[in-house]
Amino acid sequence: MCGIFGYVGSHTASPILLEGLRTLEYRGYDSAGIFIPGSGVVKAVGPIDNLAKKITDTIPGTSGIAHTRWATHGAPTEANAHPHKDQSENVFVVHNGIIENYSLLKESLKVQGITFETDTDTEVLAKLIGVNYHGDLLEAVKSSLQLVQGTYGLAVMSDRDPDKIVVARLGSPLVIGIGKDGHLVASDPSALVSHTKDVVYLNDGDIAVIEKDQYSITTLKGENQNRKAEKIEWDLEEIKKDGYDHYLLKEIMEIPTTVENTIRGRLISDKGRVKLGGLEGYIDKLTSLHRLTITACGSAAYAGEVGRYIFEEYADLPVSVELASEYRYRTSLVDPKSAILAVSQSGETADTLAAIRLAKKQGLNTFGIVNVVGSTIARENDAGVYNHAGPEVSIASTKAVISQVVVMAMMSVLIGRERKMSLETGKEIVQALVELPNAIKNVLEQKSDIEAIAKKYKDYRDFVFMGRNAHFPIALEGALKLKEVTYIHAEGYAGGELKHGPIAMLDKNFPVVAFAPQDHVYEKMVSNIEEIKARGAPVLVIANTGDDQVSRLADDVIYVPRVHSIVQPIVSVIPTYLLAYYIGIAKDLNVDRPRNLTKSVTVE
Ligand code: F6R
Repeated sequence: MCGIFGYVGSHTASPILLEGLRTLEYRGYDSAGIFIPGSGVVKAVGPIDNLAKKITDTIPGTSGIAHTRWATHGAPTEANAHPHKDQSENVFVVHNGIIENYSLLKESLKVQGITFETDTDTEVLAKLIGVNYHGDLLEAVKSSLQLVQGTYGLAVMSDRDPDKIVVARLGSPLVIGIGKDGHLVASDPSALVSHTKDVVYLNDGDIAVIEKDQYSITTLKGENQNRKAEKIEWDLEEIKKDGYDHYLLKEIMEIPTTVENTIRGRLISDKGRVKLGGLEGYIDKLTSLHRLTITACGSAAYAGEVGRYIFEEYADLPVSVELASEYRYRTSLVDPKSAILAVSQSGETADTLAAIRLAKKQGLNTFGIVNVVGSTIARENDAGVYNHAGPEVSIASTKAVISQVVVMAMMSVLIGRERKMSLETGKEIVQALVELPNAIKNVLEQKSDIEAIAKKYKDYRDFVFMGRNAHFPIALEGALKLKEVTYIHAEGYAGGELKHGPIAMLDKNFPVVAFAPQDHVYEKMVSNIEEIKARGAPVLVIANTGDDQVSRLADDVIYVPRVHSIVQPIVSVIPTYLLAYYIGIAKDLNVDRPRNLTKSVTVE
């Protein structure tokens, strides 16, 4: 997704801007550009290196704005890359988001004699600001934004006012960094960490002026905003690769530590309870709920589906799971005794945010499970729990998904113990969470074996993943990871559904990955595996250690420890993360940044 970086201070801006763009690379982009007052715009299609080759250290100027673009309006060409300029080549704009009424605005600007060189909505915004510029950049941006419908995070500079960046936010995140020798702005706090940990998050409707020694924030309506600086908790080291070839592998290998961080200080072992500071003050509300609606997108929604099994079984709480992109546009019959639980790693996913806003309008409480501290979803929810998974750089989400399920297991204890959950069950779950990191380590230690299996399966064109109960969403998640990391077609099915259609596809060229933990539906899965073998399809089973029955049926088996059923889906999904990683590597793909994808989906 597009990224914004800006700097105004006492150092030469161009290397700072380039470095800022490099830290935003992981979000996914197809072109990049910078503007430095007095020196103009430089743009390039492709990697930041292409842009860097065009920029020499001798570019003067101690302020500037920069952008990585992920094409939405118009092809990924140099012309369409940001920054965009106004007609008089005085105003320069970088923009994330979508200007929905750009065609209308464009037409009315054309009537005023303004001409256009690109297909982008951002150029329209730049030209609009240029028309409204009469010596005061802040006023020009303000009056232009009154006419705009859509979403934006934007940074604007003028050649006539080189020491000032005007930034504004509506629906697309921006954060100001308070550096030692100047101020910065970025669409993602991780881009600021090498300069400062003191940041100020902008809210929707904010407009700010950033200068070397000061910044000021008002709303579009002109109300002053005195917002306190907050500290970023992550270290730059945490964002680096740590000796691994890829972030994806690093983040998979970090999962045991992630779980430790997610549960740290939150478990009360002797009481079989948990303490979630972010939900304090809402315990009565949560325990008296008649229903919880979990809303999320992609893997976070699959984590939510696992959560459904967990909450219903252990917290005695009915749960529906709604894809945020569907929920926001359908007529939902609101149960006033329900609440929303939004699950999001980035905390910026546009559909999930829209679902929360809708739920608020419907009068519901909204809770969140969010990884990125200070993100929009985290701030807009009534209350919530941070995952503490640390920065996740690889586009395919792994450690964050695991931590989402861990948080839901903890929430089920929090709610369940106030309802019907016994002390004994509470203690068992708490113990299972304490032991979880070691169980995951056991799976990760098999990574060479899984790499060998990946090499064996890498050339198949289609896969089915199959599981029952809480392993059904795990099958969906395993299939999604394989699709996005390796571009192999994969589908997830509930075991019982196989004979209702998909079994027709199976033959020797169509392998099945089957989850068969020794739970109450184990025998059903064994029957499913037998049906698949009878069709000649290769079967890779993820089974519990010591299970000889499936090993006789399967072509390949990956053994995972048998753990408490509440955390078994977590342990079972880990091999599929390694499988997708190693197949991606064997196919020589960019596993950290799969094509067409972006880390934080801030447009719908
Ligand atoms: C898949 C993946 C996506 C995200 C989804 C939601 O590996 O990463 O499906 O899970 O885009 O993103 P967040 O959790 O940031 O709301």
